[in-house]
Amino acid sequence: MLTSKKIVVCVTGGIAVYKAVALVSKLTQAGANVKVIMTKSAMEFVQPLSFQAMSRNDVFFDTFDEKDSSVIAHINLADWADLVLVAPATANVIGKLAHGIADDMVTTTLLATTAKVWIAPAMNVHMYENAAVKRNIAQLDKDGYSFIEPSEGFLACGYVGKGRLEEPEKIVQLVEDYFSPKELPLKGQKVVVTAGPTRERIDPVRFLTNFSSGKMGYAMASAAASLGAETILISGPVSIEAPSNVKLVSVESAQEMYEAVLEQFDTANIVIKTAAVADYRPKDVHAQKMKKQPGDASIALERTTDILADLGSKKTHQLLIGFAAETNDVVHYAKGKLAKKNADYIIANDVTEAGSGFGTDTNAVTLVGKNNVEKHFPHLSKKELAIQLLQTIIKLETDDKK
Ligand code: CTP
Repeated sequence: MLTSKKIVVCVTGGIAVYKAVALVSKLTQAGANVKVIMTKSAMEFVQPLSFQAMSRNDVFFDTFDEKDSSVIAHINLADWADLVLVAPATANVIGKLAHGIADDMVTTTLLATTAKVWIAPAMNVHMYENAAVKRNIAQLDKDGYSFIEPSEGFLACGYVGKGRLEEPEKIVQLVEDYFSPKELPLKGQKVVVTAGPTRERIDPVRFLTNFSSGKMGYAMASAAASLGAETILISGPVSIEAPSNVKLVSVESAQEMYEAVLEQFDTANIVIKTAAVADYRPKDVHAQKMKKQPGDASIALERTTDILADLGSKKTHQLLIGFAAETNDVVHYAKGKLAKKNADYIIANDVTEAGSGFGTDTNAVTLVGKNNVEKHFPHLSKKELAIQLLQTIIKLETDDKK
């Protein structure tokens, strides 16, 4: 069931390490490609060789032991993973992660990954109930980490209580559920997504553009397709590859994007305007390369069509979702755009925030919408965020129609 899924298992030092060997074995048997990272304390309990044999992959434990000179191991593992499991997770690793400490192979990888991270704590019952541990768990929960709660029973230290690492079979079941194909709520729907920047030509060798990488738009298109939609991705010039399950329409200027969107609009159910469309273009496009002249120069600009606002004035049955990149008063401006452009939802982000906005792999946004919807999404990978945004909007729409 887990064929082709890439899972990193971070093993930290507690008596439950022996159960992690069984966990890695079961994940591998289920078809997953598993790579294990161990802390020094974990190696006091079990040799890396056990995990190597179970995963049939190299085991990582030293940040400075670079097995492959063409990559940086902890970044490579962080990027490779579809899912990261920390099992067992000690109070120590939970504390370090909650405070952003990265001083070994496990914690550097955990900080570098944008994949979903699940933490399976295992420790003495009193340690688990300690105020500092509880605080750290609450912080990590707020930061978007998920937890596999320890179960109750006999603990290695002699106590009976909550603190046992969840059984490997149960963890494998949770992982399988996580990866199993979900229902397809957008089946039968046509979703049009715009992405990337536009280019507004000045002359044959120059143009006006912006820093949009297309990553968020491509993630939205991929999410729509994975939820079952027939997905049309209308993209300005970017250097990333389109998902295989969408139809790509490449455009250059705001005008071309406008025409491409209009062509799809009547038959679209949802239009998602992620593109960073130029608001202005040069009034005159020179047929020949402009030669420099003595003194300053200026270019007269004219407005492009505001595609979202135009669709807002034309919409009949379509659901319109816009994006707003802001540097201040994010929610206030997003609400203004929602009303002005007659959109149903605006997804707003503060592009000045670290790890948000143009070019990054992560994003933190606020969804604002009709019926006073205002929901914040903390830093997540753009892929994960795109899925969560669409699922939230689908639920809001379903509830609205009830
Ligand atoms: N948009 C559009 N056509 C344009 C400009 C913007 O369709 N010519 C869409 C974007 O795709 C996005 C939303 O409008 O979904 C918000 O874009 P933004 O540039 O942030 O807003 P503006 O309306 O340009 O407002 P301002 O310049 O005041 O921030």
